[in-house]
Amino acid sequence: MKEKSICQNTLLAQPKHFLQHFLVLILSLSSTLPFAHSFDYGDALSKSLLYFEAQRSGHLPYNQRVTWRHHSGLTDGLEQGVDLVGGYYDAGDNVKFGLPMAYTITLLSWGVIEFRDEIAAVDGELRHALEAIKWGTDYFIKAHTHPHVLWAQVGDGYTDHLCWQRPEDMTTSRRAYKLDEENPGTEVAAETAAAMAAASIVFRGTNPQYAQLLLHHAEQLFEFGDKYRGKYDSSIKEVKGYYSSVSGYRDELLWAALWLYKATHNITYFDYAILNAESFGGTTWAIREFSWDVKFAGLQTLAATLPTEGRDKEQKQILQQYRSKAEHYLCANLNKNNFTNAKRTPGGLLYTRRWNNMQYVSNAALLLTVYSNHLRSTDQTLDCQTDSVGPTKILSFVKSQVDYILGSNPMGLSYLVGYGSAYPMRVHHRGASTTSYKDDKVFVGCMQGYHTWFGRHDPNPNVLVGALVGGPDKNDEFRDKRVNFAQTEACTYNTAPLVGIFAKLHELEKGSSSNTIASASLPLLSFI
Ligand SMILES: *[C@@H]1O[C@H](CO)[C@@H](O)[C@H](O)[C@H]1NC(C)=O
Ligand SMILES: *[C@@H]1O[C@H](CO)[C@@H](O)[C@H](O)[C@H]1NC(C)=O
Repeated sequence: MKEKSICQNTLLAQPKHFLQHFLVLILSLSSTLPFAHSFDYGDALSKSLLYFEAQRSGHLPYNQRVTWRHHSGLTDGLEQGVDLVGGYYDAGDNVKFGLPMAYTITLLSWGVIEFRDEIAAVDGELRHALEAIKWGTDYFIKAHTHPHVLWAQVGDGYTDHLCWQRPEDMTTSRRAYKLDEENPGTEVAAETAAAMAAASIVFRGTNPQYAQLLLHHAEQLFEFGDKYRGKYDSSIKEVKGYYSSVSGYRDELLWAALWLYKATHNITYFDYAILNAESFGGTTWAIREFSWDVKFAGLQTLAATLPTEGRDKEQKQILQQYRSKAEHYLCANLNKNNFTNAKRTPGGLLYTRRWNNMQYVSNAALLLTVYSNHLRSTDQTLDCQTDSVGPTKILSFVKSQVDYILGSNPMGLSYLVGYGSAYPMRVHHRGASTTSYKDDKVFVGCMQGYHTWFGRHDPNPNVLVGALVGGPDKNDEFRDKRVNFAQTEACTYNTAPLVGIFAKLHELEKGSSSNTIASASLPLLSFI
């Protein structure tokens, strides 16, 4: 990781990038030509959903489309006498981490709740999105074996990372870790409650019994997480260094309460979010990061979209405080605060930190897209310190970030693997970088994988379609090497927020292709 940068293309690529944008502007302003530098967001949507099939653990179904994968983790939980087969691997390793898995399902569900029709507009993709969510929630049902017991991890980062093996060949520890009254883990209990509550909204119309079951688990998990409060990485020390909770569990508690309120309309959960708004930091923290760990901006945005009619004066006031913190975050990303704005790369990408920066980009883009929807449906604008921003302008900024992801960037690469003609070929991923189990069932040993597959210069034998990798550094530079995991590793919560966003942009593009004025009116350049 400390290797020197060998990236050399950036300076050459940059003028081309600006020329492309210049051309986009010219073409979109002319009357009849189609939107020139437009991306196929429908294709991106389809690809993003394939990624979740590649990350599946357990017994793969007959209709599995990512066929280079095979069954794996079939004895997960066996040692402890519990069935923990299924769920998702979080990234390029083979551990099942409860916190990011649940967060992934919450984000996927949010995308479907907001953009269900837009997803359904691309043939077959609503079904795939529902399958991606259910693969997670089916697992959470298994993992929640008692009202106050949640199995929150299978395998551990330390032993897993000593080996480079396809999940189909794993010989590493598959020990499972549980949370209970003596070993509490509020972050995971509350995030899993949020995921199941959000998913219950998704399934309400099509599978009401399943939705009811999810709600039942969500309510129990919230009660467990709230009543037995404790940081989960104190109970499961093995998660430290991988998914340690820096922000603690108070953000997850507010987040879960708001999702439960959204799912049940039970005023108890609303009151919880109001009563604890200040003491839990919900209305006091203004943080420019939204992630699997730090959820203040997410819960503030969620609270900001709740209707205010019928609330008393104090409730209205607290909702307004949530809203003002949400808007601070959103305005920072739009570069419209007087002082505290998000950093950007010279190519215009939001930049938070070197390690897996793309997660912050796609997570921010979801909040912006959701809020843009809210503003449009309530006929409002976002009043930032330096400017008032309407829903269309917010979406055009989201589009600039998504277009950067899909190839409109100085490297000329799509950071969504498998999209377009140029994308990362050496994604840091055990399964994708090793020959497919389907083609060669000969066992790949722990160290053998490092020797034979990890260290190779050749591209991965399997394309991890739909994965959003960690992405470029602060100078828009990217080194496509397996060892460079800060940039070439993908995570499920990078892609999850993109599903709904791709669908929304796809709809927008369809609407504007018959009307070039509409695309010209998207102020593409104003943010770059
Ligand atoms: C609302 O939720 C609380 C806490 O789970 C529960 O005790 C109460 O019975 C619920 N109320 C209704 C009307 O369902
Ligand atoms: C931001 O800057 C504008 C223009 O200089 C000023 O009018 C406004 O009061 C400032 N707002 C804050 C919150 O600092």
